[in-house]
Amino acid sequence: MRFPESFLFGSATAAYQVEGAAGADGRGPSIWDTFSHTPGKTWNGDTGDIACDHYHRWESDIDLMAGLGLQAYRFSIAWPRIVPTGRGAVNQAGLDFYSRLVDGMLERGIAPVATLYHWDLPQVLEDEGGWASRGTVAAFADYARIVAEALGDRVAMWGTLNEPWCSAYLGYGQGGHAPGRTEPAAALAAVHHLNLAHGRAVQALRAASDADVSVTLNFHVLRGAGEGSEDAVRRIDALANRAFTGPMLRGAYPADLIADTASVTDWGFVEDGDLRDIRQPLDVLGVNYYSTATVRLWDGTGEMQHADGHKAAGGTAWPGSDSVVEFVEQPGPYTAMGWNIAPEGLTELLVSLKEQFPEQTLMVTENGAAFDDDVSADGKVHDELRVDYLRRHFAAAHAAMEAGVDLRGYFVWSLLDNFEWGYGYAKRFGIVRVDFDTLERLPKDSARWYAELIRTRSLEP
Ligand code: NOJ
Repeated sequence: MRFPESFLFGSATAAYQVEGAAGADGRGPSIWDTFSHTPGKTWNGDTGDIACDHYHRWESDIDLMAGLGLQAYRFSIAWPRIVPTGRGAVNQAGLDFYSRLVDGMLERGIAPVATLYHWDLPQVLEDEGGWASRGTVAAFADYARIVAEALGDRVAMWGTLNEPWCSAYLGYGQGGHAPGRTEPAAALAAVHHLNLAHGRAVQALRAASDADVSVTLNFHVLRGAGEGSEDAVRRIDALANRAFTGPMLRGAYPADLIADTASVTDWGFVEDGDLRDIRQPLDVLGVNYYSTATVRLWDGTGEMQHADGHKAAGGTAWPGSDSVVEFVEQPGPYTAMGWNIAPEGLTELLVSLKEQFPEQTLMVTENGAAFDDDVSADGKVHDELRVDYLRRHFAAAHAAMEAGVDLRGYFVWSLLDNFEWGYGYAKRFGIVRVDFDTLERLPKDSARWYAELIRTRSLEP
């Protein structure tokens, strides 16, 4: 299995998960600072205060990437470093950090792929209503313009939002992510305001930069269980997938989504002209894929299953909604997150996206796995489960390309073990181990395996 010369092999991280230096050089607080410092919200009370200290170690980190032969690095820009209070004064020191980082990548032949929003909303904006409020949209578009003007001549590809599903449903509906609100109507308002923020940001990026523009979505690849499962699948597909692809790629919200959520909201927050602004041509649609999900209609008896806390939002227990869906346990094997390993789901997803949006170029902007790695007596991390996971998912992506999917690249999540949101430092996704006491980096076997894949551009069948 050979990957074409033009295929881009990279890895990904996100600002709050790796940077640390939470108070450095004028950075303002974000909703993840507030949330992680609230007792009971994250595993072990972990925070991103120090994380991997990438803010200070960026230079050796990109040396490490260059040593592995990575062709691209997908990182995110911390909005609160650039505009510490969300709107208004720009913090030049924040822009300078990313400018140095981007230059360092270019010097080493690594293409910078910059995401504008990977969940760290300036706290001041949350205090004014956050993504549930329309005011956040204009602030985001302005922030996009500022960053595009500063870095737009050097970034290879922009990403507007990372996984807006998580921001909206986990942040405002289920509450497991910052800002930790559990208000179904606010979650749907957040869906719309995130969509609109994406569209307005694309316009701002295009005005100041010739770089490619993308958005990254976490698609739910759904299986149904039990009677009425088609309806359960359709409902979650509407809430989780088509709530974003509908407006972004087709210019409309799906009618069934509006109908399914009628008892929660009348969607009055959608104003004239919004849908025109949201639908913007995209150079790349970014796909994050980890596992599948199995859903069924809950019959109202017994306790509802949330087989996977991370996934069990957006379709379950909406107060006032007439029908609820439960996420049921799936056949293993599982990663340390409890997510089932299903590489065929990636092939299926990519092929289905090609069928739905035939002209749209795709990239896998995240795929990877957490396992309970150990350092062996020989001082190495023999993470064969991660190697196996990655090998099978790269093969699945290759199969999709054979089936005609225009897939341009693949970013392994993650370069480094890092702050896994509500799970803190308990879950390790890195191909490079981070010792969180010493902050030392140790490439795992998976890093060497990946370097070899990049070098040969081929996988053994
Ligand atoms: C999705 C997110 O974009 C990333 O921040 C997270 O760490 C990984 N998936 C793993 O859960």
